[in-house]
Amino acid sequence: MRFTYLMPTRVESGNGISEKTGEMIKELGITRILIVTDKGVRTANLLEGIERSLLAANVNYDIYDEVEPNPSTETIHKGTEYLKHYKSDAVLAVGGGSSIDTAKGIALMATNPGHILDYEGVGKIKFPPLPIIAIPTTAGTGSEATNSTVVTNKETSFKLGVLSPYLFPTLAILDPALTLQLPQGITAATGMDALTHAIESYTSKAANPVSQGFAMQAIKMIGENLTKAYFVGTDIESREKMLVASLIAGVAFSQSRLGNVHAISHTFGGVFNIPHGIANAALLPFVMKFNLPACAEQYKEIAIALGKDVAGLSTSQAAEKAIEAVIEMNQAMNIPLNIKDLGVSLEFLPKLIEDSMKSGNVFVNPRLTKPADIELMIEKAYYGILDDSITESPNKLALAPIEANNRSEEVLRPGVISTI
Ligand SMILES: [Fe+2]
Repeated sequence: MRFTYLMPTRVESGNGISEKTGEMIKELGITRILIVTDKGVRTANLLEGIERSLLAANVNYDIYDEVEPNPSTETIHKGTEYLKHYKSDAVLAVGGGSSIDTAKGIALMATNPGHILDYEGVGKIKFPPLPIIAIPTTAGTGSEATNSTVVTNKETSFKLGVLSPYLFPTLAILDPALTLQLPQGITAATGMDALTHAIESYTSKAANPVSQGFAMQAIKMIGENLTKAYFVGTDIESREKMLVASLIAGVAFSQSRLGNVHAISHTFGGVFNIPHGIANAALLPFVMKFNLPACAEQYKEIAIALGKDVAGLSTSQAAEKAIEAVIEMNQAMNIPLNIKDLGVSLEFLPKLIEDSMKSGNVFVNPRLTKPADIELMIEKAYYGILDDSITESPNKLALAPIEANNRSEEVLRPGVISTI
């Protein structure tokens, strides 16, 4: 078995630890930093303790708070201008995945020429970005421990990925106190995003024993803590465990990539601006159903990790229990059991299929996936049909042939896959 494991990010975790941000940044030799965040984080006063610690450590800072959900290439370029104007020598992301991904884009564009679109794909960054420090305020994205950033090209409504070992943050600071105020809807969506990362990573064709160890631990921790964090938002213990689990899932998928859920959900973000986590949560059972014949043994293990009793069941019956567990979590947290209710429209089906197939995540999905499979998965998810009552697309689009994935090692080599 040939694999690489790389995770160079230093992690500091603990309740209240964000109050030591200034000290830690000072130790890194950084004297001027750009905080990248959104207006919601500022309104919720989540920057207060961090700013205090920066002032105490004599670290100068400026704030760029224009990050939006599904951040655009323009937001990154504007932030880069801010950074250059203030001559900051590092970026400090405080927020959800959008803020961390924007900060990564800014750090990259501060030291590399051209446009962010020039770096789409794997391993295209030429020069090391500025140091990236990430303080997540949601427990989901895992971006504080990953080698990628996802950006929306508004002109094409396409979410593209930039992957490079350079994009691992230098330092990730996990402070559960910053997640206590998260509303239920965001807790649910981001937590299910983390679960999707862990499940897709565990079953990815590019998984290795190290990434699978991380992924399984994340699945267990999310199963045990997500609904508790949702129903008792002030419970510091479950908030802390979710934050750690989300990071662990990030470590896992930065080694293995993801699968069809992310391939499809990124198109929902790009075309309909649907929040990433909720799109994943609603799609996950349908993609799992499709994948089940290819990874029943692994789904059985996931079912057990999610607390299901599989005694006396066949492997495929036990695997179904993993899907059942995911649906129960969605139901408990008021997540729709179809994607129609999220605002997905089948009018854009050809683009959704085409853009999904561009994703490198399709290549590592456990089951061979063709355009017609993506079409049927989207349609079944749209109508909320999980069983086998439909085996052929009701729309049957006349799709242009798009090359399907295959199991050859060729497609798994870094640099071959073009987008996230
Ligand atoms: Fe995700």
